[in-house]
Amino acid sequence: MAKKIVSDLNVKGKKVLIRVDFNVPMKNGVITDDTRVRAALPTIEYVINNGGKAIVFSHLGRVKTAEDIAKNDIAPVAKRLEELIKKPVKFVNATRGKELEDAANQLKEGEILMFQNTRYEDFDVNANKEVKKESKNDAELGAYWASLGDVFVNDAFGTAHRAAASNVGIAANVKETAAGYLLEKEIKFIGGAVDNPVRPYVAILGGSKVSDKIGVIEALLNKADKVLVGGAMMFTFLKAEGYNVGSSRCEEQEFVDLAKNLLAKANGKIVLPVDAIVNTAFEDIPGVAKDVDKFDQADMGLDIGPKTLKLFEKELAGAKTVVWNGPMGVFEMKNYAQGTIGVCDLLAKLTKEGASTIIGGGDSAAAAEQLGYASKVSHISTGGGASLEYLEGKELPGIACVDEK
Ligand code: 3PG
Repeated sequence: MAKKIVSDLNVKGKKVLIRVDFNVPMKNGVITDDTRVRAALPTIEYVINNGGKAIVFSHLGRVKTAEDIAKNDIAPVAKRLEELIKKPVKFVNATRGKELEDAANQLKEGEILMFQNTRYEDFDVNANKEVKKESKNDAELGAYWASLGDVFVNDAFGTAHRAAASNVGIAANVKETAAGYLLEKEIKFIGGAVDNPVRPYVAILGGSKVSDKIGVIEALLNKADKVLVGGAMMFTFLKAEGYNVGSSRCEEQEFVDLAKNLLAKANGKIVLPVDAIVNTAFEDIPGVAKDVDKFDQADMGLDIGPKTLKLFEKELAGAKTVVWNGPMGVFEMKNYAQGTIGVCDLLAKLTKEGASTIIGGGDSAAAAEQLGYASKVSHISTGGGASLEYLEGKELPGIACVDEK
């Protein structure tokens, strides 16, 4: 059954609670990447353009100590929303109380209110201790936030893997809960790849550790037709195959053994790199391409090599669904970005040929955005942990709490 979405709601004259994920990276109070704010605009715009009164809220960072309160003030994000949506956003510097309740009740059709970081409720300032009311889905808090509005729209995919007061807690206390357009898009692309992938279905996995992605590797080995491996995790697999990985980043024996088991179970589905760009230090100076059976002890692999890119191109030819999670190398260093750029190019080409190409959130999403490929693939997820858990086939509480149509 399909989930109810925001356009299925009659929002006219209603106070619409909209949970977004505005957990954006910030440096000294300045937003360094506003992708998540932009991604929530269609939902907020739909609500205000159809006579709804938008009450927008999100978590920001993790609030465990008194210092975290000042560090995670969400006011600058409300300002950015105002700039992007080109409408005033009334900001209430509180997560509960009379000022917030009055502001919600005085909202007029088409107006926007945003309140303070939902995770401020995770720390009790008076008792000076962590209480995790938001993060542990405190029943009173979910009911209180629900009482501020008439209907609920969850558009926060990035936090859908967490059962919090601001998603499942509110949903349990309102008559109607719908998905926003962003959540709908994440369900369509990632959910589509999990439940009903058009084949051939090829997954590409990178990043530093096998141990971080055991669940997703196992799930993809069951679902995908091929799993291409790059990033530093390739060295754990290559060591499991008996190669000398030199000074490359590689996990402890426990995970090398695990990689060996995964390779045995994979029935040839796992495709490992045949070469890498190596250096003798972790520095952004040019490296050399070396076949994986030619490593010296001092060699440190920092990217996949050109022969591997050719191999991946061959394995991806004709793919109809491609999911990618984790960069292929140290893409932040310009000398070790070619593998990640190469995979972006391969995905862009497949997208043009009609494939559904999906980049899981986190580092690979940041890489694709930074490298200018955002509009050249089918979907870049806004969730890191959430997209991994979704790809593992887990039920995400933030999706489960949305009404069916
Ligand atoms: C994210 O950035 O992955 C989400 O916003 C969730 O944040 P969290 O890991 O702090 O719960």
